[in-house]
Amino acid sequence: MRANFRYREPHRHFTPGSLLKTILAAFALLLALPVSAAQLTIELDHTTKTWQTADLLKLPEAQTVQIADDVSYKRNMTYRAVPLAVLLPGLEPQNHLQAVALDGFAAELAAAPLLQKSGARAWLAVEDPAHPWPPLADGKPSAGPFYLVWTDPQAGRISPEQWPFQISGIKQLKTVAERFPALLPAPKLAANDPINQGFALFQKNCLACHRLNGAGDAQVGPDLNIPYNPTEYFSGDFLKRYIRDPQSLRHWPQAKMPAFAASVLPDNELDLLVGYLKHMAGRKQQP
Ligand code: HEC
Repeated sequence: MRANFRYREPHRHFTPGSLLKTILAAFALLLALPVSAAQLTIELDHTTKTWQTADLLKLPEAQTVQIADDVSYKRNMTYRAVPLAVLLPGLEPQNHLQAVALDGFAAELAAAPLLQKSGARAWLAVEDPAHPWPPLADGKPSAGPFYLVWTDPQAGRISPEQWPFQISGIKQLKTVAERFPALLPAPKLAANDPINQGFALFQKNCLACHRLNGAGDAQVGPDLNIPYNPTEYFSGDFLKRYIRDPQSLRHWPQAKMPAFAASVLPDNELDLLVGYLKHMAGRKQQP
């Protein structure tokens, strides 16, 4: 297991079959050291394609991109990268993807921000074996072979969860709502109801670490509805203060819940998120 929080362990969670994948990945690493060309499989509903590193680097759309304050390296970085949308033919904004890493961790990605051509833009950074990237931490591998990075992330308020690294594959999945109906708000609500907006924010910011009604794949944080919903036991503004900065409320050295600054989750979105949690307190389901 990854012990160092800066290596972003809590942002990721295991999927079924991940143990096998971990073993296979360890094998692949043994065979592949130091850095050799890798491949990336993109499985969409209508097409599956496996890309080799060299083919990606040769695409006419490949460019050198500068990333200011890279989320994984915590500094400015330069990559050879391909606009991710180029690799996702036929994908629709309402679709859903999962990026799977070499060690079996998985990141949930809504398709809409990945397909945008302006504002926050998603790039697949490709590690060229001739110019390997630095390790993510002492004794750790790099963010390669493939890493999802963003130019202008603030424009789309892209969260750290949307920067998966060491990617080995990307696949289209059913949406979170379809896979985990126990997370759904009341069906009578309009699609743009504030509670449904809060549900979208919950998926984007919280579901990587927390389950709710036992639903989700996360292993890191407590269930946020069973047995009790935090809106039932945090009084006044304490829940919002906790989400803004957990350590300001309760402090201990190994606490893992990250702070959500207003730059990632503005006040109005925090209100929507808490609105969703409150609503779900009235929709408990035993896992
Ligand atoms: C990177 C993983 C991670 C993310 C993302 C995350 N949390 Fe947490 N959360 C934790 C962990 C782990 C704890 C347990 C306390 C700790 O270790 O800090 C926790 C604790 C909490 C608690 C306190 C529960 C209690 O009774 O002690 C609340 C409330 C909470 N999280 C809400 C949220 C919300 C809302 C979001 C999304 C905005 C969120 N968390 C995102 C990992 C995460």
